[in-house]
Amino acid sequence: MSGTDLTYQYPRPSFPPPVSYGALRLPSRYLLSPLAGFTNLSFRRVVRQIGGVGLATTDLISAAALVHLNEKTERLIETHAEDSPFAVQIFGHDAQQMIDAAQMLTERGVDTIDINMGCPVQRVAGQGAGAGMMCNRDGTLSLVQRVVEAVRIPVTVKMRLGWDDKQLTAPQFAREFEQIGVAAIAIHGRTRAQGFSGVVNLEGIRKVVEAVERVPVIGNGDVRTIADASRMLTTTGCAGVSIGRGALANPWIFRQLSQWEETGSWDPPGGFDDRLDLLTRQFGYLEDQWGDRALTRFRKMAHWYLKSMRVPATLRQAVQMAPTREAFYRALQDVVEAGPTTGHRTGILPDMHIPVPAGPVDHW
Ligand SMILES: Cc1cc2nc3c(=O)[nH]c(=O)nc-3n(C[C@H](O)[C@H](O)[C@H](O)COP(=O)(O)O)c2cc1C
Repeated sequence: MSGTDLTYQYPRPSFPPPVSYGALRLPSRYLLSPLAGFTNLSFRRVVRQIGGVGLATTDLISAAALVHLNEKTERLIETHAEDSPFAVQIFGHDAQQMIDAAQMLTERGVDTIDINMGCPVQRVAGQGAGAGMMCNRDGTLSLVQRVVEAVRIPVTVKMRLGWDDKQLTAPQFAREFEQIGVAAIAIHGRTRAQGFSGVVNLEGIRKVVEAVERVPVIGNGDVRTIADASRMLTTTGCAGVSIGRGALANPWIFRQLSQWEETGSWDPPGGFDDRLDLLTRQFGYLEDQWGDRALTRFRKMAHWYLKSMRVPATLRQAVQMAPTREAFYRALQDVVEAGPTTGHRTGILPDMHIPVPAGPVDHW
């Protein structure tokens, strides 16, 4: 099945104007959502090479860690010429620390800073950072305003619909953020209490879009296909769409979406060989950054590649658990020889099931 066959099944919205964060014009309206543990430089580079990405963001990084920069944090904010435009996402509850972190990032040439107001993890939200910021209107507005005023680059906010069903405060926050100079708002259409359960609430996102006058609202949640993106754009009226888990399953999604917007049709995602090529390229970039330590850091990502390549579980495990670089490449050779369990090497592979993190406060 080619993407072209799907062209007429989904309405092509009348696309809104290109997305700009202040003076920063994004090359497309399809953004890579931050995914802690996955959206590192090596992944951002391969996704960018495929094309169609409007903006990519780092994993969330604590403002405190940025102020006392160690090697791990340094690696998290490392970037590359092809990783542009580039956002760093910060979290914290101490305004001065957030300002210091934002100023340091500005000096390093980061294009835009995103404040995390969506992280449901107790360790973050319990301290009043992440989704916890949604429980403290005045403190949050003051913190965000101080960060906006402290730097000359665009500052954006990523939040959920609210803490729980009874406190759907995102529209109110969005309106106030616009007034204090926030450049864009990304909204994951779930509450903190929902974690990753249920389906994304598009009506909830629409209310955020309606609450603001001109800042772009980026809709987020459960977008895996052109049909999902079409629904997100038409139902909510959002200016852009950000994609997290869907990009792990299909790193071609940004290019597909951009093709769809430009021409109405799109190429299929890469097959077995293309994914293998991506996997080895990404591992190479990770090795450039981490040397021997790349092997363990790549395990989670290898899982996604090999699952989407339909590799049998035993071979997957051999790659993921390889103790040395040599064992890793030997195990990959076995993968190449075995081929996919379903589908074939060069054509479209069957869709993979995308799991969700189990509970509201769980990390994957
Ligand atoms: C493993 C994992 C890590 C995540 N890390 C972050 C993060 O660091 N910062 C953030 O704002 N959101 C984070 N999220 C939330 C995603 O950015 C996104 O809002 C959510 O997954 C819904 O979008 P999706 O359905 O396209 O994945 C994470 C989600 C997952 C599953």
